[in-house]
Amino acid sequence: MKLARKDILGLQDVSREEITLILDTADSLKEISSRSIKKVPTLRGKTVINLFYEPSTRTRTSFEIAAKRLSADAINISPTTSSIAKGETLIDTARTLESMSPDIIIIRHSASGAPHILARLLSQSIINAGDGFHEHPTQALLDMLTIREKKGTIEGLTVAIVGDIAHSRVARSNIYGLITMGASVRVCGPALMMPRDIGRMGVDVHYDMEEAIRGVDVIMMLRIQFERHHNSRYPSTREYARSYCLNEAKITGAKKDVMVMHPGPINRGIEISPEVADGPYSVILDQVANGVAVRMALLYLLLPGEQL
Ligand code: CP
Repeated sequence: MKLARKDILGLQDVSREEITLILDTADSLKEISSRSIKKVPTLRGKTVINLFYEPSTRTRTSFEIAAKRLSADAINISPTTSSIAKGETLIDTARTLESMSPDIIIIRHSASGAPHILARLLSQSIINAGDGFHEHPTQALLDMLTIREKKGTIEGLTVAIVGDIAHSRVARSNIYGLITMGASVRVCGPALMMPRDIGRMGVDVHYDMEEAIRGVDVIMMLRIQFERHHNSRYPSTREYARSYCLNEAKITGAKKDVMVMHPGPINRGIEISPEVADGPYSVILDQVANGVAVRMALLYLLLPGEQL
């Protein structure tokens, strides 16, 4: 089965059946990464373009690895080494790339809505790899794959998302996806880091971290998005850490089998202590591994190619 849509721009309008199909496909593709020859011919002859206007380690690399494991050709474009540095616009760049007949374009951009512009303009499939503080759907899908893998289900779990909610595209996509899959979601952070529309998102809002993580199955810590703060959101990082850094003392108030997640990159000692990030509750590196599987699944499900 394939996805009956051209693009993946966000999870707000993605159904439970579609998310389940993506996670099931990722589950079955994950095994390829543990083979000695990590390659299948499924997308031979297809071309994938990674168009990243913002820095990335996990998303860009895992999309490239995902494409190569499915035998597609993967091309990376960055602002510093392309004609974007000469002032070429997003639309001109997109039209130029379209003329070279790629099959799919993966875009990360600082402007919310940039992938939607490309999706309207181009016939190729578009995947949003993070747009401003709007959505990061592939991150939420890999997070849900990790939760399902470790907990056996998503339905009925309680997930606390803690940190800079207002500037986090990861938080927004996870809120949409987790609620669609039947989880209860709590969000927690300082008032100045809460989005204005949080009351309409179907989550429980907390400002006290101990209270927010009490009894939850999953704690998802977020990076403070310093690069998106145009004015101060908190008196100091030390004060932020005192209230919202997940450390060994705070985690004692959570469930014994709580699972700790972080999309990365981590500000160690600000939102999560090194002992927790590297400790027994952490699944941070499992999330990274699942990023490859989820991105393989999306390429497979959006592009015509050989059946698995
Ligand atoms: N989680 C995430 O998007 O990481 P990168 O910025 O390294 O891609």
